[in-house]
Amino acid sequence: MPDTLTRLELDAGTSLDQIAPLRSAIDQLLSRWAESTGQQRSDVKRQLQAKLDDSTIPVAGDTLEDYIRDWLEPFILSASANADPCNLSNMTSVPLVWCSEFSRLCTLLNQNVVSAKSAGAFGDCEAFVLKRLYEIVFRHPCESDLVPGMLTSGGSTANLSSLWIARNNGPSKLKSVILGSKLMHYSIVKSADILGLGKDAIRFVPTDKDYRCDISALKNQVWQSERSGENILAIVGVAGTTEVGSIDPLSEMGQLAAELGSWFHVDATWVGGALFSETYRDRLAGLELADSLAMDCHKQMFLPVAQALVLLKDAQSQQAIRHTAEYLFHDHNDRGLHAVDGSRDASVLLLHAALHLLGRDGYARIANKTLATAERFAQQVKDSDCFQLLTEPQSNLVAYRFRPPTRQLSSSELDQLNEQVYHRQVREGRGRVSLSRMPIGPETSKSSIFRAVFSNPQTANEHASIVLKEQQQYGYEAMDHD
Ligand SMILES: Cc1ncc(COP(=O)(O)O)c(C=O)c1O
Repeated sequence: MPDTLTRLELDAGTSLDQIAPLRSAIDQLLSRWAESTGQQRSDVKRQLQAKLDDSTIPVAGDTLEDYIRDWLEPFILSASANADPCNLSNMTSVPLVWCSEFSRLCTLLNQNVVSAKSAGAFGDCEAFVLKRLYEIVFRHPCESDLVPGMLTSGGSTANLSSLWIARNNGPSKLKSVILGSKLMHYSIVKSADILGLGKDAIRFVPTDKDYRCDISALKNQVWQSERSGENILAIVGVAGTTEVGSIDPLSEMGQLAAELGSWFHVDATWVGGALFSETYRDRLAGLELADSLAMDCHKQMFLPVAQALVLLKDAQSQQAIRHTAEYLFHDHNDRGLHAVDGSRDASVLLLHAALHLLGRDGYARIANKTLATAERFAQQVKDSDCFQLLTEPQSNLVAYRFRPPTRQLSSSELDQLNEQVYHRQVREGRGRVSLSRMPIGPETSKSSIFRAVFSNPQTANEHASIVLKEQQQYGYEAMDHD
C-alpha cells in the first residue's frame, strides 16, 4: 500500500498532505451541486464548454488548488442530476451508496485483471461471480473448467462479444444474418458492422401489440432467409427493450433457434438484479435457453458506469475468440484471453460486494419496488385523459405520450407537441423523462414518445406525479399558444 501511494507522490509531484484538501473540496462541491437547479447546471455547462474550446494543455502543471478552482468546480457543478428521484430519463441512475469507496480502492490497488499475474485474486473473483450468476440463469452448475463468460465495459461490448463468439462458431462462407425484433438495441447493428457481417445483415421483425417480437413474423423471416440462401447466424431476443421495456417471448425464440441450429443471444442488459425477483423470473422464462446473454451491471444492479457481463451456456464456445500473447497469458483462465478488452480494472469487486451486501433478497426487493412504481405510474397515465399509454409495463419502464382529447391533431402536430413538452420540462421543470421516436402499434412511421425509466428505487409515487403534472401543464399551455 505505501508503495502505491508513494508512486502517486513521485508522478504528480504532490504530497499526500496536499491531496487531503481535494477530498474536502469534492465533498463541498458535491453538496453545492446537489442543491443547484437545472438552470444553474446548464449555465455552468455552457460556460465550461466555451472554456474547454479555448484552453490548451499547460506546459507546466497546474497546482491542485488552481485545478480545483478552474476545472473541478465547474465540472462538478455542470453534472446532470441523474440521481434526482423526479429524473426518469436514465437507465443508469444511482449507484449503491458504498460504491465510491470501492472504486477508490480499485484505483489505489490498480489491479489489471487482463491476466492472473497482475490481478491478485481479482480474476478468481470474476470467475466466482460469473459461475454463480450462471447457476441462477441456467439453473444448473457450470461444468466446464473455463469460466463461462466475461466482464465487459458495457452492454454494447457485451452484445458485441456474444455475437463475435456466435460468428466464430458459425459457418464462415455463407451470407449470415441476425434476426430479432425491430426494437433491438442499436448496438446489435453496430456489432454486425464491426464483425464484418455488414449493417444490412440485420433482419428486423415486426412486434406484436405488446411490442414483443412477433413469433409468426419471425418464422416468416426464417422462411424468407432460408429461401434466399442466407445462414441464420443468430436470433436475438431482448429482455427489456430500450424503448418500452418489453420482454420478447424468449422460450419460443430459443426453441426456434435450437431447431434451426442457430445461436440464441439474449440482450438482457436491462435485467440485472431483476433476475432474483420471482415476479420477474416468470416473465423471463426462456432466458435459460440462451447460448449467450448480455447483462449490464450499471443498470438494475446499481453499480457505477460502466460494467457489464456476458454469460455463455457452453463455456467452451469462447475458444472461438481466443487470442493469446506470450508476454501476458500463462493461465488458461486469464481474463484477457477471450475478450474484446485488454487491460481492465478490478471493479468486479463492486459486483461481488453488491451480491453479498444486498443478497438475492435485496436485489429482488428493489426490482419489485421499481416495478410496482412503474405500474402505478402507468395506471396514472391511463387514468388521465391527456396521455396515451403505449403498452402495459412488462418491466420498470413506461412508454407513453401526451395526446389531449380536446383537439384533433395530425401525427406531426402531436410529435411537435410532445417535443415541446419535453424541452420545456428539461428547461424549467423538476421532472425529466427521455424523448424517443418509434412506430406506435402497427404504424410504420415513427412518432415521438416519452420513456419513463424507473431505475431509481428512491422514486416514489409523488415524484412520478410531479413529472406527469408538469407535462400536462406544459402540453395544454403549448396548445393555447398555437
Ligand atoms: C436493450 C439494450 N441493449 C444494450 C444496451 C447498451 O448498453 P450500454 O449503454 O451499457 O453499452 C442498452 C442501453 O441502454 C439497452 O437498452
